Amino acid sequence: MTKPTILTGDRTTGPLHIGHYAGSLHNRLRFQDSHEQFLLLADSQALTDNAHDPDKVRRSVIEVTLDYLAVGIDPAKTTICLQSHLPALAELSMLYLNFVTVARLERNPTIKDEIRARGFGRDIPAGFLCYPAAQAADITAFKATIVPVGEDQAPLIEQTNEIVRRINATAGRPILPEAQAVIPQSGRLPGVDGKAKMSKSGGNAIALSASPDAISAAVRAMFTDPNHLRVEDPGKVQGNVVFTYLDAFDEDRAGLESLKAQYRRGGLGDGRIKRRLEGILQALIAPIRERRAQLAEDPAYVVDVIRRGTEKARNRTEATKREVVQGLGLFML
Ligand code: TRP
Repeated sequence: MTKPTILTGDRTTGPLHIGHYAGSLHNRLRFQDSHEQFLLLADSQALTDNAHDPDKVRRSVIEVTLDYLAVGIDPAKTTICLQSHLPALAELSMLYLNFVTVARLERNPTIKDEIRARGFGRDIPAGFLCYPAAQAADITAFKATIVPVGEDQAPLIEQTNEIVRRINATAGRPILPEAQAVIPQSGRLPGVDGKAKMSKSGGNAIALSASPDAISAAVRAMFTDPNHLRVEDPGKVQGNVVFTYLDAFDEDRAGLESLKAQYRRGGLGDGRIKRRLEGILQALIAPIRERRAQLAEDPAYVVDVIRRGTEKARNRTEATKREVVQGLGLFML
């Protein structure tokens, strides 16, 4: 039996952070043995909201690949490939744009949130508004049935499946499979400042390549319960970033639950919970940082991983594009 296919990816806008780790990366590591997995370095999509800084988008291709390899993504099991170098993705995007309306794109909750967060107002780059169709092209070009992503991406998978149904209906046969999002139960990790989204541009992230000092500083500055002034005071666990992170990374669940109870009652200082979290994060990141530094010494190897992965992905995506062109009944040469 052939393994089911997974396609997932990240915009190349900067190094990955522990939010990516707790979210999608964790699932991707788990899936690489049981599934045929493709990881897309989404540089074309990164450009849809970074046209002012293509340099960053280019540099981040290597950064994100280093992060993938450093956390344990194995290029012998997972194919890492570069979006801008897979022409079939762009071609499918153009075809799919005819099966989706501007109104539907504007209604996509992910797009709506991102337009607000980026302050685009009415000056929305057309490429940005249309990226759900491009993401549908990414997913379907690989005929992926499983897409491990953060919860913010769920509306994109939904819209992908709408496009799939339209294409299949037009073709009169099921050319493309529908895909299912696999979303971590833990939910999205907030920023160290307590804001809903951890992001490098927001300055509230802890990178997977963070130095020991950067980790200490981030934990020290972390948002807790602003009303928990003295150790004896009862404190809030809900909305307390330190506990949210402990929930995500602390494996001693029983120990953690008793700490939470003590914090709620009063008598547990922020310093204690922060020291616990810092120890856990230092232990999590140290081996990733070391492996990343080693890999960074051999950039030719990293480029080779991307080149070989992209070659492999090219055959696959070209084949799907031809099927779609044919299925739609367009002229074939
Ligand atoms: N939109 C994803 C992000 O913001 C990146 C991405 C591009 C992606 N193409 C994809 C994710 C296909 C899953 C499947 O990180």
